[in-house]
Amino acid sequence: MSNLKAWNDLAAHAEEMRDADMRDLFAQDPERFTDFSLSMGPVFLDYSKNPVTRETMDRLFRLAREAGVPERMEAMFSGERINVTEGRSVLHVALRDFSGRSVYVDGEDVLPDVRAVYERMRDFCDRVRSGERRGHTGKPVTDVVNIGIGGSDLGPRMATRALEHLDPRGPRAHFVANVDPMDLERTLRQLDPERTLFIVSSKSFTTQETMANARAARQWLLERLGDESAVAAHFVAVSTNTKRVREFGIDTENMFRFWDWVGGRFSLWSSIGLSIALAVGTDNFEELLRGAHLVDEHFRTAPLEKNIPAIMGLLGVWQVNFRGAECQAILPYSQALEWLPSYLQQAEMESNGKRATLEGGLVGCHTSPVIWGAAGTNGQHAFFQLLHQGTRRIPCDFIGFARSSDFLPEQHTLLLANFFAQTEALLQGRSLQEARQELLEQGEDEAEADRLAPHKVHPGNRPSSSILLRELSPYCLGALIALYEHKIFTQGAIWNINSFDQWGVELGKQLAKRVLPELEGDRTEGSHDPSTLGLIEVWRAMGESDDK
Ligand code: F6P
Repeated sequence: MSNLKAWNDLAAHAEEMRDADMRDLFAQDPERFTDFSLSMGPVFLDYSKNPVTRETMDRLFRLAREAGVPERMEAMFSGERINVTEGRSVLHVALRDFSGRSVYVDGEDVLPDVRAVYERMRDFCDRVRSGERRGHTGKPVTDVVNIGIGGSDLGPRMATRALEHLDPRGPRAHFVANVDPMDLERTLRQLDPERTLFIVSSKSFTTQETMANARAARQWLLERLGDESAVAAHFVAVSTNTKRVREFGIDTENMFRFWDWVGGRFSLWSSIGLSIALAVGTDNFEELLRGAHLVDEHFRTAPLEKNIPAIMGLLGVWQVNFRGAECQAILPYSQALEWLPSYLQQAEMESNGKRATLEGGLVGCHTSPVIWGAAGTNGQHAFFQLLHQGTRRIPCDFIGFARSSDFLPEQHTLLLANFFAQTEALLQGRSLQEARQELLEQGEDEAEADRLAPHKVHPGNRPSSSILLRELSPYCLGALIALYEHKIFTQGAIWNINSFDQWGVELGKQLAKRVLPELEGDRTEGSHDPSTLGLIEVWRAMGESDDK
């Protein structure tokens, strides 16, 4: 992409913009907020607190066109195999397609199959929730445990935690991901086996952590219910791999399928979302899909200049490639969205943390920034210090819901006051003179004011985008997640990388398979680097010693 004219034009423009101060941009343009904000359905994006001008945006739109973003988008929606390294289509959008159109893969409409699985899922969830489908000993299900990792964990976990308050009558949802036995043990400790349903969620059904936890959970159940036939009542599988599910010992009658054209980190819309639907109900789950579909239609049809996810993607490219940003903070002002930063970490970094172009060359510029964050207001009392006064300028996404719930609405107003104030503080900052004046007004003498004032300077001019959604509903959540999915798509298209594979996670997995037998035995092969070899030896010695 650095050979694109628009890229080079942007590089030249970035030089001109190097010292731009957003406070001046606001002062010069009374329409800035109106011009640099967009609304669509329940979504409002304010990007006026980013260091961009009309010219910057025009050049970014030109970049998107020159990089072929619209064509790539069409290729995705029409089922082309755009995941070129795995030879797969990328069609999570088909899972939430309510348009009535068909979606073809290899000439076959996939939607009838999608609907059939979805109907089975609905029926199953409704029967579990109503108490019609019970456990082996006839007791209703009160607890659901999703055993999965990565995309088979983070999506369902994030969405369930965001929405579970909507239906307190639904079964409690638990999530076990880590191969660390403590994760499973802590969960099982709370459970009654007669009332627990396990969902083994794994696209491949070969993932080491998930299979280990699933085997241990089955063992736990058998030890307590003492009957092999209990497994059928207490275990279901969600996977694309029927053969492996059968080999594991789960009857495929109790399996919910999905398809290789659904990427793991984009799979919460598929039967991987079973735990969400069980916890919050199938109507709410469908609303989640409908919210995402609204954004899909917007992404597909809105011109780039009015296209919210495309603009989010372009702002990220501007920050990463032309302003030197190394990370991006995700700051949901909603406790319900506490898992959103972790979810987006996988979604963005596993998708766009790449260095090879589609053609196999080197990408030649930075790709995904480091994604991190936490729910506001907690983050304010932890890392916001660095956002305001640190030496780096970190782009921040603030996310919040306009409407409160019925519980303590005035406290919701307090939450939003913090949201808005933080974006203002990042922008406006506080000058040395202002800091000094404030100290004098607080009664400090001149010398003390001079001494303290430098520590109280906030440089300001720090970038943020604000996403305001109408309310914490499944519909709005679906829309929010889809915004980020398409942001990721836009950036991957501009960087000319494959956002839909994840070869970078393979090497570590392979090496772990080699190390394991060495740890289980008593011999260490000489084929490790000295540090790894040393660590293994120290581990052995520590394990064998009686020292405290
Ligand atoms: O380790 C990476 C990964 O392949 C992710 O992409 C995926 O979401 C996760 O592992 C889990 O994979 P599976 O659903 O096949 O168990």
